[in-house]
Amino acid sequence: MTQITLALTKGRILKETLPLLAAAGIEPVEDIFASRKLVFETNHRHLRLLILRGSDVATYVQFGAADIGVAGKDGLLEHQGDGYYEPLDLGIARCKLMTAVPVGAQPQKGRLRVATKFINVARQFYAEQGRQADLIKLYGAMELAPILDLAHEIVDIVDTGNTLKANGLEARETIAEISSRLIVNKAAMKTKYKEIQTVVDALAKVVAENHE
Ligand code: PRP
Repeated sequence: MTQITLALTKGRILKETLPLLAAAGIEPVEDIFASRKLVFETNHRHLRLLILRGSDVATYVQFGAADIGVAGKDGLLEHQGDGYYEPLDLGIARCKLMTAVPVGAQPQKGRLRVATKFINVARQFYAEQGRQADLIKLYGAMELAPILDLAHEIVDIVDTGNTLKANGLEARETIAEISSRLIVNKAAMKTKYKEIQTVVDALAKVVAENHE
């Protein structure tokens, strides 16, 4: 049978993805969390799982190294790649992509400095608002930037809001509602249609049942 490769995002998304896959009848043959391996066989001989960083899932699927992927919408918005479809919102790992500033901060009059790892999303957001913004790329701990005066505000993921609160920041504008999405390589969708559609349909059914 045709081999299918499904790329998953490690971390919090993975913890919420595995129960969905299990409900769709797809289970790794060993405990992913107890292993350092990056590729896992499943109970379906033709289906294997890759465990990747979220920002890499879209790249693997875009170039066909994986046929299907599970990735956060934040990463997909930032990736801005083509070469894949996004057929299903899995409804997991929900959060928001927001701007945040020090508590009570007044609107910045001059040129705005924004720290974020979502450079493309931020560029588009401020451009649409007609606001001049200098973007500073960071890879983590964005919340520190306004405290140490590296930036006036940040663009980051907000879930419970605890991280902002713990660092004296408050959320201001919502840029996008985020959840994890299923993506499918466009060429694979043609060449492996039956196998891929089976996986998409099974997951769509589980998602629909979860929302009932
Ligand atoms: C995200 C984000 C914030 C935090 C927000 O980081 O960058 O730091 O979660 O969550 P909260 O509103 O519930 O406090 P994550 O833990 O996903 O790790 P990352 O820095 O690798 O993105």
